[in-house]
Amino acid sequence: MDCPLQVLILELISTLLFWEGASPLRLPGYDLSAPANVVVEEGLCTIIPCNFTYDPSDASQTATLYGFWFGKRGFPGELPLVATNSDEMVASFAVNRFHLIGNLKEGNCSLLIFTAEKNDSGSYVFRMEKGYRAKFTFKDNYPEPFLKVT
Ligand SMILES: *[C@@H]1O[C@H](CO)[C@@H](O)[C@H](O)[C@H]1NC(C)=O
Ligand SMILES: *[C@@H]1O[C@H](CO)[C@@H](O)[C@H](O)[C@H]1NC(C)=O
Ligand SMILES: *[C@@H]1O[C@H](CO)[C@@H](O)[C@H](O)[C@H]1NC(C)=O
Repeated sequence: MDCPLQVLILELISTLLFWEGASPLRLPGYDLSAPANVVVEEGLCTIIPCNFTYDPSDASQTATLYGFWFGKRGFPGELPLVATNSDEMVASFAVNRFHLIGNLKEGNCSLLIFTAEKNDSGSYVFRMEKGYRAKFTFKDNYPEPFLKVT
């Protein structure tokens, strides 16, 4: 689970530079902060830092909080699942390489990526679910962090 320190420091700088501000076009209670861009060298690992909120009055108190990261890659409109804390199967290219490491209960949706491949380049989209009504995909007016593998 080693991720070189210099990568993380670069990451932190880009986070500070690209952290997105709040947009008025967002659903009340639902927000997500993530850098617009994360750059990583091929073969190395990186973290896409991320935090989110949801409206607790939508959520079932007893339901488990699930998080999902989807990659915008492959065919247009196709969103392969790359990481989740649910039982759902992730895309084969993502197995053992993409990890949802953030503590969701603390609103942390950070995504860890090992051994970055050229074709991991692209935008990533986060979704949360907690019970029947609290289901939300943070897209369009929310940050969809772009991973650039160099
Ligand atoms: C994410 O964390 C930062 C720093 O603590 C904070 O300013 C921001 O409002 C948080 N964003 C969300 C969506 O909770
Ligand atoms: C979110 O989780 C990541 C990975 O565990 C950690 O590095 C980061 O410090 C956490 N962020 C906050 C605001 O706690
Ligand atoms: C991505 O690239 C790697 C190495 O170049 C290759 O092994 C893998 O099959 C590719 N995955 C997809 C989904 O195209």
